Amino acid sequence: MAGQEFAEGFRFPPGFLWGAATAAHQVEGDNRASDWWAAEESGRLPHRSGRACDHLRRYEADFDLARAFGHNAHRLSLEWSRLEPEPGLRDEAAFGHYERVLEALRARGLEPVVTLHHFTAPRWFAERGGWLAADALDRFAAHCDAVVERFGSQIRWWITVNEPTVLAKHGWVTGDWPPFVRGRWDLAFRVIHRLCAAHRRAYRRIHARVPGALVSFAHSIPWIEPCDPSRTFDRLAARLRTAFLVDWCFGRVREAGRLLLDYVAVNYYTRSIVRWRPRGRALLFGVDCHEPHHGPRLFDDLDQELWPEGLLQVLRRCARLGLPVLVTENGIATTDDGLRLAHLRGHLEALARALAEGVELRGYLHWSLMDNFEWAKGTTARFGLAATDLATLERRPRPAMRLLAEVARTGRLAPTGSEVPSA
Ligand code: FCB
Repeated sequence: MAGQEFAEGFRFPPGFLWGAATAAHQVEGDNRASDWWAAEESGRLPHRSGRACDHLRRYEADFDLARAFGHNAHRLSLEWSRLEPEPGLRDEAAFGHYERVLEALRARGLEPVVTLHHFTAPRWFAERGGWLAADALDRFAAHCDAVVERFGSQIRWWITVNEPTVLAKHGWVTGDWPPFVRGRWDLAFRVIHRLCAAHRRAYRRIHARVPGALVSFAHSIPWIEPCDPSRTFDRLAARLRTAFLVDWCFGRVREAGRLLLDYVAVNYYTRSIVRWRPRGRALLFGVDCHEPHHGPRLFDDLDQELWPEGLLQVLRRCARLGLPVLVTENGIATTDDGLRLAHLRGHLEALARALAEGVELRGYLHWSLMDNFEWAKGTTARFGLAATDLATLERRPRPAMRLLAEVARTGRLAPTGSEVPSA
């Protein structure tokens, strides 16, 4: 993605949201009442979150850092298991904590983008059957009501649930996340269905009480393309994978033909190149492939391909839904500063190209503010704009954080771009 068309640089629109995204369990530390903590303690997960980044206590310094680096927005999740550690019990200390967190964001000019459910749930919720329990939707709706009642007036940008397809895949197919069920695509699709239903209810409840709220769910959208575009069945494999992993959720958040979304919240990381294989579940999803005609491809430490062009494609596709779009996650797991810079530069160019084409893009939230607890990968995957020193927990801004700061402050992407270096 050389920035040919931006020889003079590119100017982002005023009011564009710039910032980072986080999730409570990954940064706060001591998330003891959650299902993840219980699974970590039981030894079923390879890593323990422990104090994570100690963001629970250090949030003010972290928001100072974000602000000092030009951010004007910040995505965070309010941890359900803190707010409701036992069924029906609202923990006033936790509500007070998040009250102060939201005030701290406002005081620094950081627009909060708030997630209600980012993978973790209260331990009691999981023990009663989690998302597959008969009363799961009522429980989540009650939690949503409690948050809306207390914080409604302070939040404009809402994300009900994070990445239904990713949670369902890890929890019920690959089985490396709680509740550690393997190979049950049927249950995975029930969970996705439930999470979409949870979104619809939360959407209505938030709108009933918060005038002007902007509500969405965060959708993990890879760019999916056929291995050999001249082969009908490869094209079919790519289409089926897109239909099941991307479009199905959009279909589930419709009511009377209308999308219950005020914007599209896109988490974009990578592309998948898929080949048809007419056996088993590969029939529906194809298989990932890498053939010589794809040329050299670059992958991060989690084997996700760096493919900035895919963000442009995904943004174009989302724009067809007729709604504004917010990038709610995009990042790279690496310790290589040069690669991280090239990744960021490439994706900023993709944003610029989408805007230049008329996509109503509202902002870009990078995953993540600092290295944090990356679920089953623990602290081995480094996604931070700032490095987190694991011993002292000191945050050290990386070069990519400076690039983002420059663009956020000036509203301009300078033409001195570089492409992702070749492999
Ligand atoms: C996304 C998750 C986020 C983080 C990034 C790397 O799928 O939403 O919590 O783990 O991946």
